[in-house]
Amino acid sequence: MELAPDVVILAAGRGKRMCSEIPKVLHPVLGQPMLHHVLDVVSAIPHGAILVVIGHGADRVMAESKPYQGIQWVEQSEPLGTGHAVLQARPLLGKGRSVLIVCGDVILLSPPTLGRLIAERTDGASAAVLTARLESPTGYGRIIRDGEFIRAIREEKDCSTREKEILEVNAGIYLFETQALFKALDALTPNNAQKEYYLTDTIAFLTETGCRVVPVRLDDPTEALGINDRAALAQVGQILRKRNNERWMAAGVTLEDPDNIWIDHRTRIGADVRIETGCRIQESTISSGTSIESGCRIIRCSIGMNSTIRQGSYLTDSRLGDEVTVGPYAHLRPGSSLGDRAKIGNFVEIKNSSFGEDSKASHLSYIGDATIGKMVNLGCGFITCNYDGGKQKHTTRIGDGVFVGSDSQMVAPVEIGAGSYVASGTTVTHDVPENSLVLSRGRQITKAGYARKYRKGE
Ligand code: UD1
Ligand code: CA
Repeated sequence: MELAPDVVILAAGRGKRMCSEIPKVLHPVLGQPMLHHVLDVVSAIPHGAILVVIGHGADRVMAESKPYQGIQWVEQSEPLGTGHAVLQARPLLGKGRSVLIVCGDVILLSPPTLGRLIAERTDGASAAVLTARLESPTGYGRIIRDGEFIRAIREEKDCSTREKEILEVNAGIYLFETQALFKALDALTPNNAQKEYYLTDTIAFLTETGCRVVPVRLDDPTEALGINDRAALAQVGQILRKRNNERWMAAGVTLEDPDNIWIDHRTRIGADVRIETGCRIQESTISSGTSIESGCRIIRCSIGMNSTIRQGSYLTDSRLGDEVTVGPYAHLRPGSSLGDRAKIGNFVEIKNSSFGEDSKASHLSYIGDATIGKMVNLGCGFITCNYDGGKQKHTTRIGDGVFVGSDSQMVAPVEIGAGSYVASGTTVTHDVPENSLVLSRGRQITKAGYARKYRKGE
């Protein structure tokens, strides 16, 4: 049986058209760098070695790709063209009888398509090239046909006016018989408009030396879309987002307005979750029956069942139990944990704090570095003063069943024992034992008629 092909991913280009400091293949699409999408696709088919040719921003590309094991990195010190890039990988190739070459910027490719490309390079052919018919082929290499085979690939910049009218393009994905590829690479010259060693020139070399090259036409031409600039980045991102959203809808998730909802690949969603327009959800788990109202951003959170996240809330790195209510306009910062049936209302910010079951902070509060027990009620304007003159952060502890009146401050470190009452307007500076009443406000002075006299200047 023939060995699975070795894979070469071309990812060394400068990506000039992105006008970016970030290496092109690290630009995220649906929350994941382009290169990782490509690595996921090639990993899903039988393959030999995986070689990634890197150059511009090589260290950064390797560092951000640590989760991918078993990749062999190949450096191309100068981006002299796609053919030159493959030449750099040559010393590591040769064990397999065939080489699959893919571009790091063509990310919509599917594993079945790669399977087809591999299957259709039948014994007689030296190479198979993935092609697509695009209504706007500008920027792509054109397929010059010789009947059912390919005679050459002509880059846009080298095309004659007639050749530019060809709508069949090179998707930049190829399967080569290894020895034929080596011979053709040796013959490459930078004799073209861009003065580069084009991988695409290997095709004319092969056909001129009597080899056959077969086209494998994509059924869905969107798979061929390459990301060369920000407009293509947005276009491909939208396609990927749509596909992913359709998958969630098929799994029983209601997306009120799927064109305006962004859910990344790593998010998991239960059935009967309802998500309204304008939400962005990343690396999170949303359990069944939960509703997320419009305009929420949720990053690395887990949300239990039958909870409600009201409009305009921003949640990061937090854990929420079942039947929780958050928002509208709440801010859960990293390390927030809410017990079942907790209720967080409008304009409440929580950071690095735990909130027990059935506890509430319904309006306008800051809760930082606090441990709040069960059945606690924090009144409007509750504030933990957790930062001592900019030196250290301190903890506030509030026991089960405590009722805190509105406009109260906890000057941390401080602890309120279970079952206590904190009167409105109290600034707590010392620990309070269980079942106490604590109050610290000046006595009220009322001077009847004073205001009228003052206005008259008496
Ligand atoms: C290339 C093809 C074109 C095809 C298109 C499909 C060539 C000459 N042209 O054009 O026929 O229609 O892809 O998307 O191959 N790269 C390197 N080293 C280099 C140059 C590029 O690793 O020296 C990498 C890039 O990072 C990129 C890939 O190769 O991932 C393709 O390069 P790019 O410059 O995007 O080529 P296109 O102009 O899109
Ligand atoms: Ca490209």
